[in-house]
This record gives sequence, structure tokens and C-alpha cells, in this order.
Amino acid sequence: MVYLGKIKKHHTAMPHISIISSSIRIGRNSHRVALYFKNYLEENKLATAEILDLKEYNFPIFEERLRFMPTTPPANVLEFAKKITDTDGVIIVTPEYNGGYPPALKNAVDLLYNEWHRKPIAISTVSDGSFGGTQVITSIQFSLWKIRAWTVPAMFPVPKAPEAFDENGVPTDKAGTDKRAANFIKELLWCVEAKARMDKG
Ligand SMILES: Cc1cc2nc3c(=O)[nH]c(=O)nc-3n(C[C@H](O)[C@H](O)[C@H](O)COP(=O)(O)O)c2cc1C
Repeated sequence: MVYLGKIKKHHTAMPHISIISSSIRIGRNSHRVALYFKNYLEENKLATAEILDLKEYNFPIFEERLRFMPTTPPANVLEFAKKITDTDGVIIVTPEYNGGYPPALKNAVDLLYNEWHRKPIAISTVSDGSFGGTQVITSIQFSLWKIRAWTVPAMFPVPKAPEAFDENGVPTDKAGTDKRAANFIKELLWCVEAKARMDKG
């Protein structure tokens, strides 16, 4: 067992965490939070990390689920599906748009099915106002529960995102942000570890 700060690690090999950056908006702020998590996980050697950027994937508006597509699925859909299947855990970074989550994220969730099953998913909500997008949590959590993902009971709300992080994801208050991240990531890695043990046994 390896101890890293307050985070206990049973893993001998590092887990792999995929960070879904959900905003495709021009001038988006929440991508900064995705960059922060990647840096945080790597700097603290807690996991290998990769950002799955929905702006880069640029999926068309949903027409059918991957498993029911009548024609050959686009290569980037297959790639996204494989990355979700192979990853140990997911962090979804989502902005709050009118109390809900953005269409690009709904698109990506609905595309897949078995790939989400029992996948540990921690959700970080972001806004440019004072409330940190906390109202979006119920809708995204419910959709993920419906699709049988394993939503991690931890929150990482980010209010005033443009002031809290710079464009490279460097937090203004590093000590405070890292402390909150440690608690959030600890819950995610607990679920990742639990799943790994159950899958092995
Ligand atoms: C269509 C739209 C609706 C929004 N609705 C809310 C909202 O309900 N609550 C909130 O706190 N911020 C809301 N915002 C502001 C976002 O919090 C803000 O854009 C923030 O920077 C996070 O999203 P981003 O990653 O797209 O920048 C909204 C923004 C847009 C574009």
C-alpha cells in the first residue's frame, strides 16, 4: 500500500483516469478545470490521465446509439467508446447551462451504453458565477445512474471559474484547490480500487 498525502493507494500499477471536458463553447472556462485535474493527477503520481475533449471530438447531433448505428460508425465514435471501455475511472467536468448540462455531454452519454456500466465517474461542476454550477449535478447524475454508471458521491464545484484558474489550469489558490481536489480524487480512486478488486475476484 502506498501513501500519498491523505490518499491511500493499493494499486501497484497506476490507474488511468479519463477527464471529459464537456464545454464546446467559444471561450469556454471549464476546460481550465479539466486541465487542472490532468496536472493534479500527474504531478501527484496518482494516475495516468487524459483529457477527452468533446470540442475536439465534435460529434454530430445524436441520431442513434453506437450499438444500433445502421452504417459503419465514425472512427472518432469508436475511439471514444474504446477509451471509455478501457479507462479505470472518469472525471466529467461540466458547466451549468440553464440549470442543466450541455448538449455535447448529453450527446456523448447517449452514444454509448455498456461502456458506461459500473464505470466510476466523478463529476465536477463549473460556473462563472458564485454557485459553482451546483444545480447541474442532479441532471447529469440521474442520466449516468440511468445508464448504469457508478457515480462517485463527491463534489468539486468551481465558482467564478475564470478567476479561479488560468488558461493552463493553474489555480489561483493552489493550496486550497489541491486540498479540495485531494478529497474529491480520493473518493474516485476508492471506487476505482473497489471495482478493480471486484473485477479481479
Ligand atoms: C447557455 C448558457 C447558460 C448558462 N446558464 C447558467 C446557469 O444556469 N447557471 C450558472 O451558474 N451559469 C450559467 N451559465 C454560465 C456558465 O457558468 C459559464 O459559461 C461558465 O464559464 C462555464 O461554462 P463554459 O465552460 O462553457 O465557459 C450559462 C452559460 C451559457 C452559455
